[in-house]
Amino acid sequence: MPDLHVVILAAGKGTRMKSALPKVLHRVGGLPMIEYVLRTADQLNPRSRTVVVGHLKESVRQALGVPSAAAALGGPLAARGRADVTFVTQEPQRGTGDALLHTAPLLEQASGSILLLSGDVPLLRAATLTRLIEQHHEADAAATVLTAVDDRPYGYGRIVRTGGRLSRIVEERDASPAQRQIKEINSGVYLFAIAPLYEALRGLATHNAQGEYYLPDLIASYRRRRRNVQGALLASPDEILGINSRSELAEASRVVRHTKNEELMAAGVTIEDPETTYIEPDVEVGSYTVIHPGVHLEGRTRVGSACEIHAGVRIVNSVLEDRVTIRNFCVLDGAHLGPGSIIGPFAHLRPESRVGAEAHVGNFVELKKTTLGAGSKANHLTYLGDATIGERVNVGAGTITCNYDGERKHQTVIEDGAFIGSDTQLVAPIRIGRGAYVGSGATVREDVPAGALAVSAGKQRNIEGWVDRKKGKRSE
Ligand code: UD1
Ligand code: MG
Repeated sequence: MPDLHVVILAAGKGTRMKSALPKVLHRVGGLPMIEYVLRTADQLNPRSRTVVVGHLKESVRQALGVPSAAAALGGPLAARGRADVTFVTQEPQRGTGDALLHTAPLLEQASGSILLLSGDVPLLRAATLTRLIEQHHEADAAATVLTAVDDRPYGYGRIVRTGGRLSRIVEERDASPAQRQIKEINSGVYLFAIAPLYEALRGLATHNAQGEYYLPDLIASYRRRRRNVQGALLASPDEILGINSRSELAEASRVVRHTKNEELMAAGVTIEDPETTYIEPDVEVGSYTVIHPGVHLEGRTRVGSACEIHAGVRIVNSVLEDRVTIRNFCVLDGAHLGPGSIIGPFAHLRPESRVGAEAHVGNFVELKKTTLGAGSKANHLTYLGDATIGERVNVGAGTITCNYDGERKHQTVIEDGAFIGSDTQLVAPIRIGRGAYVGSGATVREDVPAGALAVSAGKQRNIEGWVDRKKGKRSE
């Protein structure tokens, strides 16, 4: 096969999105739409990958490019920067033809072909592109356009054929009423032999409604020169959905979600209501796991086998080992849950929370930068922050780690087997020794040695007859 070079157009503003964010960074099913395009390109093992950027180019570069910058942004892209993608700047943006022309210094002297992808066409599959490439080479074409028949062709360039052969592409805005009836649309994805390409791009004109250099005009220009132009017709337009509006963005997200849910169900995951289950593409879920309605699994979350996630739960970048139960309405972000642990309902696990095997975190409990050891329990109304808690510890209802002194955060350590009575405040830094007890209602300011009982509330005093005297007074 001749060399394959991929060029992705991503310089446009995306005016129809009415957004401050560059269009290609809008998220489809959780990932920026251009991420899908790059992943699809990766599967083809191209010789080079070039992204044409322009509008807010730095944010697009950062989201895809330099590893350190990607890490600073956080999110799903942080783990894999793309140092090997070349960025070309198109400023100002004068149309798709002009955008491709900007890659001339990089690719004009290269051999082989260019696969031109659009940053706003995220649902394309690599297998489709492989077929496009094969068809192009079999026909020894100068250009092959990927097309589909769409009952709702609105907004797309229309494929004009004469005698069955592709003769030109007309944009919606420039089309006659008769041309608007055409249902075969341009996907915005093409394969070009490099040899004649750049010279032809330099010949494009701007005689159209938008005054831009239209890449699709290349087709008519090729035809005039009797170059071999092919159309590769897809059976369905679904994959080539181009995203120009927020409504199309939502449509693409629906497709991505549906695909992911189907994949998981086929692999043995129960999804009770796929319509309301939002699982992002990079999430993994083990078989026999049951997911109830209204669950969101995001980022790089990994869910083990035989887990149960109840309704209304949101889990971001977290790991659930096997047999974990998350009861209703929990929010987890950056948490790690050991096998057989039970969380919720109504628990909030913030970054760097680690819950050991068979441990329980109950209702209205918040964890942050806290390890709760195997078999330990914090079942009610508790805040545990910056704490290291051993195994088989019982944290009573209403326990609070007072980890912040107004300037700095301090650590709490609770050793194995300790028992913290209800309504305890642990003023950090503090250490509760192995097997120690803290009596209810204590404010613990000093370390408690192993095996000791700490009590800090004053001695109780009962005042006999107080209530009657008080009531008597009132009725006088
Ligand atoms: C384009 C095609 C249309 C096709 C449709 C498929 C043109 C003129 N029209 O229309 O035939 O049916 O895609 O989705 O090509 N871009 C740049 N620089 C620019 C302009 C655009 O890099 O100067 C990028 C955009 O960021 C986007 C892509 O090119 O990723 C397509 O541009 P867009 O404005 O969305 O074109 P469409 O109107 O969708
Ligand atoms: Mg578009």
